[in-house]
Amino acid sequence: MGIGFPDGFRWGTATSAYQVEGDNTASDWWLWEQQPGRIRGGDRSGLACDWWRSAERDFDLMVALHQNAARLSVEWSRLEPRPGQWDQAAEERYLEMFRGLRARGIEPLVTLNHFTLPRWVAERGGWTWKGIVPALAAFAGRFVRAAAVLVDFWITINEPVGHLIGAYLLGQLAPGRTSLAAFIRALVHSVRAHAAAYRAVHQAQPEARVGVAAYLRPVQPVRADSPLDRWLAARMDRLVNWMYLDALRTGWLVGPAGIRVRIPEAVGTLDFLGVNYYTRTLLAFDLRRPRTLFARPETPFDSEMSDADYSEVYPDGLLLALRQARRYGLPMYVTENGLPDADDDLRPRFIVDHLRRIGQAVQEGCPVLGYYHWSLVDNFEWAEGWNLRFGLYALDPATQVRTARPSAALYAEICRQNGLP
Ligand code: FCB
Repeated sequence: MGIGFPDGFRWGTATSAYQVEGDNTASDWWLWEQQPGRIRGGDRSGLACDWWRSAERDFDLMVALHQNAARLSVEWSRLEPRPGQWDQAAEERYLEMFRGLRARGIEPLVTLNHFTLPRWVAERGGWTWKGIVPALAAFAGRFVRAAAVLVDFWITINEPVGHLIGAYLLGQLAPGRTSLAAFIRALVHSVRAHAAAYRAVHQAQPEARVGVAAYLRPVQPVRADSPLDRWLAARMDRLVNWMYLDALRTGWLVGPAGIRVRIPEAVGTLDFLGVNYYTRTLLAFDLRRPRTLFARPETPFDSEMSDADYSEVYPDGLLLALRQARRYGLPMYVTENGLPDADDDLRPRFIVDHLRRIGQAVQEGCPVLGYYHWSLVDNFEWAEGWNLRFGLYALDPATQVRTARPSAALYAEICRQNGLP
């Protein structure tokens, strides 16, 4: 039986600036890529998907997919390559992109910070630098004032917790720190920066809708009958999924290591919630693992895995995440969902199965208003370089030739019908 979605449902794809634009030389990631061993196989973003020169080529693909929406981001280091110095030509190029989307009947949802920082911010300590709070807010306010006639739908920060864990605790993303103290500092600044940016955006554009894109990855116990596994899973689930969002509701950041920080200005700084969903985590309690807080991740032996064992295919986790996130009482958008699958043997069913769960959540009364598939076209996947292929369209970065994978036609039909066939 087909599943229909509410009228006005947003059907889109998601990208981020650094991963598609190319030549972002003023960004911290540009330097990071040059360090040996940081990116798998020594890959480089290079021209990426060449969006800075010709994003419009991919906007035409969005039209072919019948999208009415698109999530993209802007690169702070292009717009403000040095403190307080604004690049007018870069601003104009972004406005041209937004006009290009509008002209094609596509509503832009724009992320102001998706993982990368200008080098001048990174040199001062990145997210551990106190000054990032006013700096990000000033940048956001200025850009939103310039773009206000074209965009009214904003995400301040993409996946704040997941990103900071990778960047300051696990050392996998720039700047590659492995310090709990640095992580906690960065986390506090991130909540403050989100709150300050939220207010700056609303000051520039009172009618704006502003949210965050949270990486929600349900954490479950390996052995449901083990109190230790259950305790561990619940504790991790709160930290990775809910700690940040709870801080935006209560004004208290209750973090790891008994940290409690009062951040009253954060209360009420979400107009909607973006949910990025990929997979779940299964954890077992293991006394031999004090360094990972006694957690040992496991994958069920019979689970379906995406390329390079990147993620377990687990659509039920999306339904669970949406049900749980409903308690915030906010409109929700699935702002990322996808998998690396170069030969596209899993993606068609992946899309259908995840959309079924969204359909079920909507039927239960969860206010889910849109879905943005990650991603339109293969792009530069951070530490994994070009190794993981998330696109509905395959890309050869050397020739810039795009080739539709079978799931592109399927997704186009879903967008066109506003529902599952
Ligand atoms: C998300 C990131 C996005 C992309 C996908 C695969 O966590 O937000 O930039 O890397 O994963």
